[in-house]
Amino acid sequence: MSNFGWCGEKVRLVPLDKERHFANAHRWVNDPDVTWRTLIGDIPITRLAEEQFFDHASELGPHPTELHLAIETLDDPPEHVGMVGIHKIDYRHRHGEVGIMIGRTALWGRGFGSDALATITRYAFEVLGLEVLVAGVMADNVGSRKAIEKAGYERVGCIPQFYWKRGARHDSILYARLRSNDPEQPSEHSA
Ligand SMILES: CC(C)(COP(=O)(O)OP(=O)(O)OC[C@H]1O[C@@H](n2cnc3c(N)ncnc32)[C@H](O)[C@@H]1OP(=O)(O)O)[C@@H](O)C(=O)NCCC(=O)NCCS
Repeated sequence: MSNFGWCGEKVRLVPLDKERHFANAHRWVNDPDVTWRTLIGDIPITRLAEEQFFDHASELGPHPTELHLAIETLDDPPEHVGMVGIHKIDYRHRHGEVGIMIGRTALWGRGFGSDALATITRYAFEVLGLEVLVAGVMADNVGSRKAIEKAGYERVGCIPQFYWKRGARHDSILYARLRSNDPEQPSEHSA
């Protein structure tokens, strides 16, 4: 397997490929353990809907407003472990929202989530030229909050009762990461 993709320390982010990623993705978005605290889930996602998502995700122009990548391990051969994306990309304000799913629940807690988030953040800054990335997380999604914090995001606020999930309302914890706060990112105005 080539080094094609955007590499972190534990994962590589690669373009969606129906042959390699569709069956896993379709299973994961319908897995109640995976979608326990995600915005999607519970309402069934049909094969047709998932196919439309894949088709849409692959029609990228030069300035995509949504970008979805598959998360694979660095093993040879690689293992597909999840999906990560940037939503609502706005090139005028240069910001977007990150979202992530490690679908292989047996692999939670091994650092794939935080590495994938750090990697897509670097991609957003270095490739897309974005300046700010945000994430909204249900307050009791401890794994997600820890992964986001490990990827360098700071808590910037809380919207009480923002989400409705499985019979209860949940606070949204808001996180942000600014390119200008990142010592590894060269300033746009530096010589
Ligand atoms: C949230 C998610 C992406 C984290 O992925 P991951 O690969 O487990 O993340 P990491 O291994 O980098 O874990 C980061 C930290 O969270 C902890 N953690 C992970 N899952 C956890 C869980 N379910 N409960 C408590 N802590 C958890 C890890 O142990 C680790 O802690 P440490 O830094 O003290 O070692 C993954 O659990 C997932 O996809 N969940 C379902 C979808 C989801 O909730 N997406 C986010 C929506 S905002």
